[in-house]
Amino acid sequence: GNRRENEWFIGSIDQGTTSSRFLIFNRFMDPVASHQIEFENLYPESGWHEHDAYELLNSVESCIERAMEQFTYKGYSKSQVKAVGITNQRETTVCWDKVTGEPLCNAVVWPDTRTKDIVRDLKNYPGAHKIPELCGLPLSTYPSSVKLVWLLQNNLAVRHAYEDGRLAFGTVDSWLIYRLNGKENNVHVTDTTNASRTMFMNLHTLQYDDRLLNFFGIDKTKVTLPKIVPSSDPEAFGKIANGALSGVRIAGCLGDQSSALVGQCGFKPGQAKNTYGTGCFLLYNCGDKPVLSKYGLLATVAFDFGKGRKPVYALEGSIAVGGSGVKFLMNNLGFIRDSTKVGELAETVKDNGGVVFVTAFSGLFAPYWIDDAKGTIFGITQHTQRGHIARATLEATCFQTRAILEAMEKDSKHYLESLAVDGGMSNSDLTMQTQADISGIRVERPAMRETTALGAAIAAGLAVEGCWTDFDQLIELTRKKAGRRVFEPHVDRKKAQRMYRHWERAVDMSRGWLR
Ligand code: G3P
Repeated sequence: GNRRENEWFIGSIDQGTTSSRFLIFNRFMDPVASHQIEFENLYPESGWHEHDAYELLNSVESCIERAMEQFTYKGYSKSQVKAVGITNQRETTVCWDKVTGEPLCNAVVWPDTRTKDIVRDLKNYPGAHKIPELCGLPLSTYPSSVKLVWLLQNNLAVRHAYEDGRLAFGTVDSWLIYRLNGKENNVHVTDTTNASRTMFMNLHTLQYDDRLLNFFGIDKTKVTLPKIVPSSDPEAFGKIANGALSGVRIAGCLGDQSSALVGQCGFKPGQAKNTYGTGCFLLYNCGDKPVLSKYGLLATVAFDFGKGRKPVYALEGSIAVGGSGVKFLMNNLGFIRDSTKVGELAETVKDNGGVVFVTAFSGLFAPYWIDDAKGTIFGITQHTQRGHIARATLEATCFQTRAILEAMEKDSKHYLESLAVDGGMSNSDLTMQTQADISGIRVERPAMRETTALGAAIAAGLAVEGCWTDFDQLIELTRKKAGRRVFEPHVDRKKAQRMYRHWERAVDMSRGWLR
């Protein structure tokens, strides 16, 4: 027979904020087929950010079909795909009718700030200060809980479904799993990493907590919440019902930032990664006990692989605007035609020329949590060129990463020597060099940057027989890969310090605009 028949593969669905992807990995953790589709981001009002839940689903299904065409063209067959993992944008809130299986409204996307006023009121509720201790998250516009509260107050379809007991709530993982299984099979689950972003889950018990539900006024007899299960499981997530992968099991599920940590093999306490996607998220593995932050970071579940293994927690620094800042330069200001060209534009000038851009399109997230900050550009003169603004856009993410690293050090009492990076913007050498310079840290970029998709594939592969078996094996496979690139800090500390002070001053001045 054909030697290829013995080979096995794991598929990975990566449903992100701006695109959906499907990748197929071989046993060496290299992608052999992939397809990506960008879909529409809707901004119906200032501060609002929506996705059409069907577009998320359809784009995922189309990616699977296209990637499977490549896969079979290479001579492989569906039976060699042992399982599929799912990774997804987190917090984004989907509401559907559990009787018809149809969405009740557009999904409210994680950076959406329409919940600002709800959050301000909630902060004054009795017991508000206790909430972060239970779930690890501060009250902000970011988690799913406040998005659901807003929909219950403002969307009639959601409100009626709730009153009739027909409302199903889920993050994007739940919605996809529910529909990929075929809605008639009614598989309504989420994994612990995704559930830890809703603000409904107790970080210690890893189950819903009535104190949290009550705080947000959610009556659990009126809304069906997804069942919380570990991130790696051969049964809990069901099977794909239709299309090129019909009958293949979904065996892994991780929020995308958790998935990138797993894909970087950040299995040990003290390891960290920073993913420059639509936003930018730094996760630091803090072992099998949650560490609650005093300095503006989130406590969250890093991964939870079940089978008697203890769940692993992370401290997270979440930055709302990363690649979306570049998209803004492209789509709103027309500076570039293609986001990969932003580095070239930034290189047309030698420095930021005194321009600082606080890209607070969704307020500012970690470690600041300023809900009412607005995007603000400081320091414009007749000398200012588009290149300066491009550079300041890239620097904004780097400055916030530095602020997060400083908070992380104080919370964990551990000094990070190097930062593993991935995600779209990490492809820009200029941005990674700037990151090293601004934060005085060594930045390490792996050759295989599909770490987000890989993490979910790992979660799925560990769940099924005859694939990967343990972390050491995965670490060994990663170690063998060539093409890692290291960026050492170059600029002098004083200059970096001065730039950072300007940033901090700019952050302060971006607050409370038109309060
Ligand atoms: O918390 C939001 C995050 O999961 C979105 O990730 O990669 O789309 O920026 P990304």
